[in-house]
Amino acid sequence: MTLRDPNIETMGTSGEGAAQPTAQLTFDGKTFELPVIEGSEGERAVDISRLRGESGLITFDPGFANTGACRSAITFIDGEKGILRYRGYPIEELAKRSTFLEVSWLLLYGELPTSEQLENLKQEVTVHTMLHEDYRRLFDFMPKSAHPMPVSAAAVAALSTFYREADTEDRIHRAIVRLLAKMPTIAACAYKHSIGQPTMYPRNDLDYCSNFLHMMYGTPCEEYEVDPVIAKAIDLLLILHADHEQNCSTSTVRLVGSSQANLYATIASGISALWGPLHGGANQKVIEMLERIAVEEGSADVFLRKAKDKNNVTRLMGFGHRVYKSYDPRAAILKDTCKEILARMGGSNRLLEIAMRLEEVALSDEYFVERKLYPNVDFYSGVIYQAIGIPVNMFTVMFTLGRLPGWIAQWLEMRNDPAFRIGRPRQVYTGHEQRSYPTDRG
Ligand code: CMC
Repeated sequence: MTLRDPNIETMGTSGEGAAQPTAQLTFDGKTFELPVIEGSEGERAVDISRLRGESGLITFDPGFANTGACRSAITFIDGEKGILRYRGYPIEELAKRSTFLEVSWLLLYGELPTSEQLENLKQEVTVHTMLHEDYRRLFDFMPKSAHPMPVSAAAVAALSTFYREADTEDRIHRAIVRLLAKMPTIAACAYKHSIGQPTMYPRNDLDYCSNFLHMMYGTPCEEYEVDPVIAKAIDLLLILHADHEQNCSTSTVRLVGSSQANLYATIASGISALWGPLHGGANQKVIEMLERIAVEEGSADVFLRKAKDKNNVTRLMGFGHRVYKSYDPRAAILKDTCKEILARMGGSNRLLEIAMRLEEVALSDEYFVERKLYPNVDFYSGVIYQAIGIPVNMFTVMFTLGRLPGWIAQWLEMRNDPAFRIGRPRQVYTGHEQRSYPTDRG
């Protein structure tokens, strides 16, 4: 079985000055004109949606590394320059001046909320944090040893069994509020269940992150006194994770949602995709790596040698990114926050020291420099989570809490897109050609 090289001869842009520029693809002696579309930041894309009909060719792009799957007005990333903006606002400004619920509104509806809209959102979210008592029992049926990520995914999917389909504008709004409100309660229940403690009811007098901390650490015997500095740090982490355009979990949400599947089930699929160690699961792996280096390896340099060795599966977790080819701006913010939090909390800075040493060595190492591998958002987030007492197996659940408004915003945008179609990639088949079923098998 061989694949013939399609021998694509030329591909260039033309039509300068014309209303719509085009690219030309010449194949098998015929030239095809392909429209070129341009985004608001000057990114250009060759529209190949009609290519197969006209030429019989499909495009081939494993991992969708160079494929635009949608037009989106939500998040802009310039990976070469290390720029990240939500709805046009730089992440650095949002991190300094905004709150997670405000950012959620911005992502969902396109503009910062008025003070009245923000108050209404806070109020609506606050009164929907409780879980139905029958639903709460769901956690009892999961093994205590289960990781809180699949427990959270199962619980979010199960919301679809308790609430109606989000099929009108009003029901969509209620489903959005319900998801934002119940996700911290679900996350805290998943944790409480894993340690065998009773789940805590939410408190309406607390803000979003303080209420989450209360449900995580309070017990029926003892009220947990929320430290506002910790609540603020969590709010910042949620803002930094709130959206990141067409990453693996968001693309999953769009793909599953494109079949018009139930919204809760769609979000549950995003949680499952996020769990993987190459995506959101990396934050847990980073802390495990730092702890291993502290105990076993002795030095960052020894570990880096393994990460560079192609015969070794070890990777420097929290390093590298499909889009960023310079410093991830979220990692830069978190590195500073990390230092502040550790200074405030006291205790050992050992893991931060190892992380900073790893970064220093990696950023001057030819292997990492050549491949443009820099720290990503997961490199320092785990050190902060650990310093503020979040258990390691909850790190990726924290990422889920943050990414939730982004997933919903992308789902909403897809739903309202006039060009909306079910997602359905093509393939290049490399299996057997037709053959007959063996006659000696009855
Ligand atoms: N350690 C060592 N080598 C690496 C690493 C790393 N962390 N990341 C990439 N490389 C090498 C890789 O081996 C390859 O080398 P070569 O060209 O010699 O084969 C080259 O760099 C390109 O890597 P790739 O795997 O082709 O890049 P990708 O865009 O497919 O993968 C990634 C991106 C994030 C999955 C990858 O960099 C990685 O595995 N990083 C560690 C896991 C991680 O931190 N994930 C969190 C990502 S950010 C938050 C999120 O999205 O959730």
